[in-house]
Amino acid sequence: MSDRVFSMSGLEVMFSPRSIAVVGASKNPKKIGYELVSNILTGGYEGKLYPVNPEGADVMGLKSYTSVRQIPGEVDLAVIAVPAAYVPDVLMECGEKGIKAALIISSGFREVGNLDLEERLVQTARKYGMRILGPNIFGLYYAPSKMNATFGLSRVFPGRIAFVTQSGALGIAMMGWTNLYRIGVSAVVSMGNKADIEEADVLDFFSEDRNTGAVLMYIEGAKDGRRLLDSMRRSSLKKPVIVLKSGRTGAGASAASSHTGSLAGSDAVYDAAFRQCGALRASDLAQAFDWAKLMTLQPPPLNDNCLIITNGGGVGVMAADACEESGVPIRQLPEDLQLEFKRLMPVFGNSKNPVDLTGQAYEESYAKSVELALKDPRIGSVIVLYCQTAITDPVSIAKAIADGCEAHGCEKTVVTSFIGGTQCNEAMQKLDERGMPSYPIPERAVSALAAYYRWQRYRLKKGQPSPTTSSQAASQVSP
Ligand code: ACO
Repeated sequence: MSDRVFSMSGLEVMFSPRSIAVVGASKNPKKIGYELVSNILTGGYEGKLYPVNPEGADVMGLKSYTSVRQIPGEVDLAVIAVPAAYVPDVLMECGEKGIKAALIISSGFREVGNLDLEERLVQTARKYGMRILGPNIFGLYYAPSKMNATFGLSRVFPGRIAFVTQSGALGIAMMGWTNLYRIGVSAVVSMGNKADIEEADVLDFFSEDRNTGAVLMYIEGAKDGRRLLDSMRRSSLKKPVIVLKSGRTGAGASAASSHTGSLAGSDAVYDAAFRQCGALRASDLAQAFDWAKLMTLQPPPLNDNCLIITNGGGVGVMAADACEESGVPIRQLPEDLQLEFKRLMPVFGNSKNPVDLTGQAYEESYAKSVELALKDPRIGSVIVLYCQTAITDPVSIAKAIADGCEAHGCEKTVVTSFIGGTQCNEAMQKLDERGMPSYPIPERAVSALAAYYRWQRYRLKKGQPSPTTSSQAASQVSP
């Protein structure tokens, strides 16, 4: 829809409704209308919930109503899961009831050529000043409202990444990932056919949302590309916007066209446009979530000096290579700082950058090295690497690193990589839980840090203030 006649308030209500009606609620556990009620209840939603079903049968112990009109109290949000042909009338009733926003789960509209049916929804929404998400969506999850109005997984790991997706199945699958990899999300938004609400609206909302630290968008094509890019440009000044844009190749573009009817457009044009708008384009899902994890757990880099601390020369070299290739600034340490590091390592260690504590690095040298790096204002970001050895315990090394950071107060970016077996996995999980993002190979840690530097440089180029610590950085990230 081109003219924006609705205010943002409809979107705010959609994310934080005081009451929800599920139209098409069912007693049958195999139906989507059952799952929606079940997920809203299991998720711990604290507002009022009204199932709507033509028989008026109770659903999961809740009294249901034969239509939204029968609901005694006010309703902020309708979640509609009835067959497509009934949706326009249901939406009309919602408008008459004064409902501000609707999630239309039902499929069977534009995506199968039913353009007129979809247009009726848009007209009704305009008439009543309602905002609609969808149709053809799996729903909306928003952690601050404890609202899981989806037919995806019932449990989602809460955090600060807002995930916005044009692919429904991918969104549902990612809800599982949040638990498996403990990647916390503030929101999962299924975009569907975008009859009214588009990515730009959602991005504008998240850019102002204090519960969201970074936005991750999976898009196949934009309905209004200029609007989306404008929103990316504004939002990127406030928080990182990570984009996963598929349809990069001829085969991908043709698949996107048959999946969501999107015109993938020239990939090179998208690429350049994203870059100009400060959006960070990831090449795959794992990378996108790697980046978002760092950006929601750690502050941005303070200056153009990244320090690598390692117990293995080889991984140190690999990380240094990855840094130089991806624009993470690595410089040799000043003499005085080298001397301080030398005290924390055997004589055969290396105090340049990477600082190689050697395979004999125990908890204390890791903790003290991290503290030293955090204390010195000339260092702007830190990569801590650990290769599993038989004489050290990965879990206690992880604890020492996290304790070292907490003792000093983490005001600069710290990223870690633990390379080894199952104990390393356990150690990385513990680090993640303490807000210290960890990755199983150094290159993934570097890639996330490089993306953070790119974002920081964009902001500085656009005149945004540099981040500072209580001890004030000596030099800043150069734009
Ligand atoms: N008001 C209230 N309730 C109604 C109305 C109405 N006007 N009309 C029907 N209902 C009730 C039905 O009686 C039924 O309840 P019951 O089980 O107690 O009888 C319930 O609503 C559901 O209606 P059904 O006709 O049984 O429809 P069904 O549940 O099979 O399908 C649905 C409805 C889910 C909306 C389906 O039409 C649909 O669109 N499915 C696709 C959803 C989807 O995939 N969305 C995209 C997700 S993204 C992705 O790719 C994963």
